[in-house]
Order: sequence, then C-alpha cells, then structure tokens
Amino acid sequence: MRAFSSLLLLAILPTSLAVKSQDFKTCSQAGFCRRGRALSARAQESQSWRSPYSVDPSSIAVSPEQASFVAAVKSSLYPDVKFSLDVRVHDDGVVRVRMDEVDGLRKRYDEAASWALIAEPTISPDVKWAVGKKELRATYGPKKDIEVVVSYDPLTVTLYRGGKPQVVLNGRGLLHMEHFRTKAASEEKAPVEAPAEDSQVVMQVNNRAWFEGEEEDGFWEEKFGSWTDSKPKGPESLFIDITFPKHGHVYGIPQHATNLDLPTTTGDDAHFSDPYRLFNADVFEYNADSPMSLYGSIPFMHAHSTESTVAIFNAVASESWIDIGHSSATSTETHWMSESGILDVFIMPGPTPTDVFAQYSRLTGAPALPAHWALAYHQCRWNYISSDDVREVQKRFDEEDMPVDVFWLDIEYAEEHKYFIWDKKTFPDPVDMSHDVEAIGRKMVVIIDPHLKRTEDYPVYKEAKDLDVLVKTPGGENNYEGWCWSGSSAWIDFFNPGSWDWWTSLFKTEPGETWSWTESTVDTYIWNDMNEPSIFNGPEISMPRDNIHHGGWEHRDVHNINGMLLHNLTAQAVMMRTDPPRRPFVLTRSFYAGSQRFGAMWTGDNLGTWEHMTAGVKMVLANNVGGFSFAGSDVGGFFGNPEPEMLVRWYGVGIFSPFFRAHAHIDTKRREPYLLDEPYKSILRSFLRLRYSLLPVWYTAFRETSVTGLPVLRPHWVMFPKDEGGFSLDDQYFVGSSGLLVKPITQKGVTETSVYLPEDQVYYDYFTYEAYRGAPKGKSVTVPAALDKVPFLIRGGSIVPTRERPRRSSVLMKHDPFTLRVALDTKGTAKGELYLDDGETFSHRDGKFIWREFVAGKQNKGLLIRSTDLAAQKPGEAVNGVALPTYNGANEFANDMATVRVERVVVFGLSAKPKSVQGGGKELHWEYTPGVASNTKKQGTASVLVIKDPGVGVSSDWEIVVQV
Ligand code: NOJ
Repeated sequence: MRAFSSLLLLAILPTSLAVKSQDFKTCSQAGFCRRGRALSARAQESQSWRSPYSVDPSSIAVSPEQASFVAAVKSSLYPDVKFSLDVRVHDDGVVRVRMDEVDGLRKRYDEAASWALIAEPTISPDVKWAVGKKELRATYGPKKDIEVVVSYDPLTVTLYRGGKPQVVLNGRGLLHMEHFRTKAASEEKAPVEAPAEDSQVVMQVNNRAWFEGEEEDGFWEEKFGSWTDSKPKGPESLFIDITFPKHGHVYGIPQHATNLDLPTTTGDDAHFSDPYRLFNADVFEYNADSPMSLYGSIPFMHAHSTESTVAIFNAVASESWIDIGHSSATSTETHWMSESGILDVFIMPGPTPTDVFAQYSRLTGAPALPAHWALAYHQCRWNYISSDDVREVQKRFDEEDMPVDVFWLDIEYAEEHKYFIWDKKTFPDPVDMSHDVEAIGRKMVVIIDPHLKRTEDYPVYKEAKDLDVLVKTPGGENNYEGWCWSGSSAWIDFFNPGSWDWWTSLFKTEPGETWSWTESTVDTYIWNDMNEPSIFNGPEISMPRDNIHHGGWEHRDVHNINGMLLHNLTAQAVMMRTDPPRRPFVLTRSFYAGSQRFGAMWTGDNLGTWEHMTAGVKMVLANNVGGFSFAGSDVGGFFGNPEPEMLVRWYGVGIFSPFFRAHAHIDTKRREPYLLDEPYKSILRSFLRLRYSLLPVWYTAFRETSVTGLPVLRPHWVMFPKDEGGFSLDDQYFVGSSGLLVKPITQKGVTETSVYLPEDQVYYDYFTYEAYRGAPKGKSVTVPAALDKVPFLIRGGSIVPTRERPRRSSVLMKHDPFTLRVALDTKGTAKGELYLDDGETFSHRDGKFIWREFVAGKQNKGLLIRSTDLAAQKPGEAVNGVALPTYNGANEFANDMATVRVERVVVFGLSAKPKSVQGGGKELHWEYTPGVASNTKKQGTASVLVIKDPGVGVSSDWEIVVQV
C-alpha cells in the first residue's frame, strides 16, 4: 500500500512549488459565476437597470404580535413563478431575511442554517412591523435608532442606524433566484429576434434575455476538464448584492490566503480579477495571495468604519463567489453568487466589533473551550513511522528539556490506510505506546480520514455499507467510488442520521455491538483531514456535484457543510468515550460556520517559504474574525526543508498562534526542534518555554471567546475600532484581552521591526522592559527583533499572569506558582484576569473553576495591587454566559488550587523607588531598578519593581501595598 501512496504522490507532486490552478475553476469556468458577473456587468452598463423582484403588498401577512411577516415576491419576468419572503428581527437585533421559491418544480436546499445555527433564534417581541404603501418598516434597539425597511418595488431590504443606511440588500438590483424549469420549456422561451404576433410575449421573453443573458450559459450541463456535471436540476443559482454604505473595509469570509482587510475584486484598481471563492477544496500548494478557495468556508463578513461595524452571515452551503468593490472611497459593494440554496441572510447591526461577535456567536455558537493541554505544543509529521519512533522522539524532547504535550500520527499508522486499524508491522503495541506517551499527561492525536477503503475485510467499510450510509452516485442507487489515500474508497454520508450513532460508537475503547476501537485509549484524540472531501480522481479533487446525499440532496447543495459534519460527529464520539465526558480535541481541515463549536483547524498544506509564513499569520487572523479562533498553520511549512533561521521564525509565529503544531510532509527531512544546531536549538527551547509560560494567558483568552465570541487573536480594528491607522494591519495583533501585542517576524534577515502603537499609551517590551510611548493618532516605533526575539509588548494598563517553571508537559504545571507582570499605564494603573479550571472535564459548568481579577490602582502616592474573585462579581459570565447557581469561591477546583502561590510580582513603570512594599501586614522582599515611569513621555528602560514571594495564593483575595 505504501507503494500505492508513493506512486500517487509522485503523480500529484509537481516539480516546482506552485498551485495547479488548472485543477480548480476560475469564475469564468463556473457557469453560474459567469452568469452572475454578466448580470452585474449588464446592470452597470444600463442606465435604467431595475430589479424585476417586488413584494406583492396584498400578500403581506404580519404575525399576530407584529414581530415578523411573510409576503409573496414576484419577478416581473416570470409572473407565474412564486417566491416567498420572510423577514424577522431576533431579540438581539439581528435581522434574518429568507426568500425561497414556492410551489416550484423542485425544492431548493434550505438546510444550511440548520447545520450552522445552534438553535432557532427567538424573534424579538418588541419589534412591530408597520405596513406602509411602499414599504414595511420596523424600528427597534435600546435607543430606537435601528430601522429595517423592506421596500416593495423593487424589493430591497435596508438596515439603518440613526437614519443612515448600514446594509442594503438588492440595492443594485442583482438579486436573482433562478427558478426551477424544464429544459424543454426553457428552450421554447429562447430570445425572440423577429416580431412575433403577441408583443407582450416578445417583450417578456426579451426582458428575460436582458436579465438572464441571451444564452442559456451552463444551464443544463457543465464540463470542467474531463468532468461532466450532469446538472439534472438545471439552473438554480442565487445572486444577491449586499452594499455597506459608508463602510470602507470588509473582513472575514475565510478561508483565503490574502490580506485581512479584503482587497477588491471589481473596479478599475481591483487587486484580484476573480471573486473570492468559497468551495471547500484540497488546493495543493496554494498561492500565498489569492482569492481562490481553500479547505474551509465561512460566509460571514464584517464591514467596518470609524463610525460602526456591521456584518452579514449568508447561510448557503453550495459553492459561492463573492465580488468586492468600492462604490466610493468609503463604501463597499459586494455581490454574492451561489450555485444553489435559498436566500437566508442574517444582518448583524453591530454597532461595535464586540457586538458583532456576540451577535454571530449567538447564531452559530461560541467556540468550545478547549482542553488546557490542547493549547500547548503539538509535534506532528507525516509520519512517525513506528511505536519506537514515537518513543524515541518523546525521549529526545525530554533529554533536551523541551516541553511538548502531544505526539501525532499521520496516515501511515493505518494498515493500507484503513483508519483505526494499526499497521502491526510498525505499531505492534499501540496501546502500550499511547500509555508511554500519556505517562506525564501527554496525549496522542491520530488521524481518521473520511474515506473508507473498499475491502470487505475492513470492518468500518463493511458496517457502513451494511448500514447503507454511504454517499451515492447520481440517481441515488449505487454507492459512490472514488480514489484517495486508501485507493478505491467510499465516503460516509454524515447527512444520513443513520450514520451518527454508528460513527460515535467506533471510537469507544470498550468492545460493543458494532466494531469499536479497542486498540486505542481515552487519551488518544483525533485529526480529521481530507474532509472537503478530497478525492484524487474527482472534479477539482473533490466529489462530483451530482452525487447524492441523504434526503436526495445533491452534493452541490451541501458541499461546504460536508466537512463540518465529520468534525462534529468525531468530537461527539471523542467526548462520549468516558463517563463523565471529557472535552474533545479534534482538528479539522475543512470547516464551515459553526465549526468553532467542535475543535481546531489549521491552514492546510502551506509551503516552507517566507511568503507562506506571512500569509499564515493573516489567515489565522481571518479565521479568528470568522468566529473560529482555534487556528494555526503548520509550523515549519508543510512542504520543503526550511533553513534554521526560517524554522526559528516559524516557531516565533507558532508560539503566538492559538493552535500550535509543527508538521511536515513525508518527503521532508526531520526537523524536530532538538535536531537543530546551536544557537537555534536553544532559541527554540526558549520559545517553547515562552509558550508554556503564557498558557494562563491563552487559556484565559479562550474562556473569554467561549463566552463572548470575541476572537482570541484580535486585530487592531477589533481592539481600536475608531483608529483608522490600524484598519489594514494584519502582521501584528493582540492576544485576547491580555494586553499582549505581538508582531511575529516573517522575513529573512530582520534585526528590528516597526510596531504600530494605536494610542497615547505606554507599551513595554516583554523582555527588555523598554517603554515605548504611542501617540493619540497612532505611531510606529522601532523594536528590536533579533532571531531570538519575537517582538512582543505589554500594553500599559495590563496585568499578565504567567507560570515560569520549565516543565516537560503542561499537565506537570498544574500546581506551579504564578508570576504577575503589572504594566502600569500612563495613569499608573493596571488590570488583568486569570481563568483556570481542571482543563479537561466539563466540571467548570458546575462552577468548579477560579476566575480572578488583579487590579493595580493608586493609593495615596503609592500603589495598591489586589486580587479579587471575578466569578463572584460576574457569576453568569464565567462559563457559557449562563448563571451558575452553584458557583462558590470555595469550590472543589479552587480548593485544589489553594496551595498555589504567586511567586513573583513584577511592576513596570513605577514613578519612584518604593519606601516599603507590604503584604499581609508584613514587609515583603523586593528589588527596584530605576527607569522610565509610566506617566512620562520618555522612551527608555522602564523602572522595574520585583516583589519576591509575596506570600499570596493565586485563588485567594489579597492586597499588596507599595508605598512610594
Ligand atoms: C493532507 C494534509 O493536509 C497533511 O497535513 C497530511 O500530512 C496529509 N494529508 C497526509 O495525511
């Protein structure tokens, strides 16, 4: 089997590292994208362009409480085709606009939202629709300054705030829902050239041509390369223009390798000639700056200005293309073109980025709180080739005192790539091997791909076939067969509920009625790859669009959701292995809106180039603003053999990514951090230790995102929404609310770099205590960036908790003491927080955690530093945003932490040497090094006060008084 995969690899590995763009469609090769763009071009050319869609006022039915309405929509071009419109305002102000074809020849796919949303949102009881002669209008919001206006003719939906339009649907008249039709009827209505007897008919038919195009472009069949898409349903695309007046910047719609502030695709100065594509695909050796689609799709877009932030989520699961342009310097026009589905758009009114994240996570769910160990360092490669190889790698990490938490196994562990089945020649003792790794709390992650080798002696395939839960070929009769790592393979149809219990039972480590993975342990976690799905001999390396899923839906209808279902079910399976359940960890390559609930993602097969390192930072940021924070790129680059300098910089990126994993292609040289020569090896050791010391910061940031939806990595526009100077920054960012500002270096030969400071505040170098002062309108400062440094500043006003004892794994740090870095702001104050729980179960949902606030404030001329119980102050906010009646400051976990000390408090920027430093009524041990004070404008090394062993616990209330 190795022979097969190597051969296959040779066949698919190009000689030079460049995307095989011929494998993937451009807009002009996708019929519906051509049609959508052509429609837009005709609209632009025509002075009198007018949308044919209108609301029939006589049909409007407002619900008894007046909170929502439905109405009939018609198109003047096809008076016999019926559409329905449903507009409602949720209790948090989000507007949902749905439109579907009614009584059509077929039913359009309308289930995308049901997979993405956590629940059916509640409609606001306070909103009342007023039915007017030309429009329906609803006014709401705490200040009654938000209005949604649905105009009848043409149909438009506009969200206003303070009388100013924020989001407009169909403002450019590009809405078009191609109704179902038969080929025969369609041919009859081809454009009429010569005068016909019935001039009405001629006008209508020619108007259709004017609107839909003269030719039936790609209506009934499409070819791409050697592939033919049979398109039995004919045209069913959906186009909608969405304009964001006075919002000049748009972000989101991951996954694309490009700038965070999305460059334009239309207009004279368009950066890209193709629209952004959302079509989950295994794009081999992707370009580092491209609108091409990649492995995942989140159709969630923010639009931002100094005045406000708004956003939309377009719940569509089929291939989509999005054009972005500017109607003026400060307004953004977008045009969404999807192959199938209903119109189901959620408009998020903001008005701040924080509000938008809350609105989006109320819809699709806040990210899961990961297990604590999952935030530590993951060591992967394709492949660790045997159990002894795994043991040896672990030994080498330990010998070199390099922390690591997780060892990963790629596809070669599995006999003939039959996932779950160990290749006993190389992995004769998988359970013992796993136990060896788990001895100091480490974990294994093993890959499980969604393709099943089609051999009867593979129990997983056999059971899936017997259960009849495999994806079918067109017509729905036969199981589909395609090629992937395991050769001739079949794909489980996770849309089929019949597959769900069976799939979750496979991961049980105890024998059961069906096959279960008894040769596994409950500390073995899972990696789901190839779930776009990737099919080597399929169109665009994926599944034929006319394949059939449960319910008779074609693959085209559900394509972008497909990968999320595997991720979802695998996460459930992993969670259900133990009683009580433990937090799952599942990494996915493919994702959709809602995937943030199930685990982590990575940016796929990046190249070992500086360009890709740079792109990876932007992509991880885009994923964070796309609601899916637990993201990272392959450290080192998947392809290639990075030189030591590049590898070191790549670890510099990795230690500041939410998900931190080194990974490499099977053809690369080994590059585990202990293999490097000095000084690189020691630098990597210090980087790994830095990540581990900051785990309290990461975990606290993940708690916050799991409650508020605010991203773990925060770009400048999220932190400083009014500072235009930061709107396009995507090479530096903040970590949660910690005040840590990072600028990883992703270029060769750098010794210093410029960091943008967005405000008139002092920022301290984390390592040298150099104090830099920003300016009211933003200012760039030069910061040292030698190879052993990641430019990394603490914002004045922050208190950062760390754990600084080097350990071999994060679990061994459980009872380690804390250091608090108190970075005083220009007013001489600071604040920070720390969240901790057992890191692996769900006992935090029963109130077993600590959530502390540290505050440093002025007292007389000195400083008072206090620790208080934040959970007691905000009991409902700690977990899930639900009140915890059981929370008690003396909970079991807090008791377990009772002996955990704060071993050091370091204060930056004090204005003078203290006269005394007291805690618990006693003078403490301290040292003071004079330097720049936080309230001066000078640049230079800050004053540093180190308070040693202040005799205070991390989970108790305390005060330290610094008298100056
Ligand atoms: C493709 C994945 O992107 C890569 O990370 C993995 O190593 C290979 N598949 C083999 O499983």
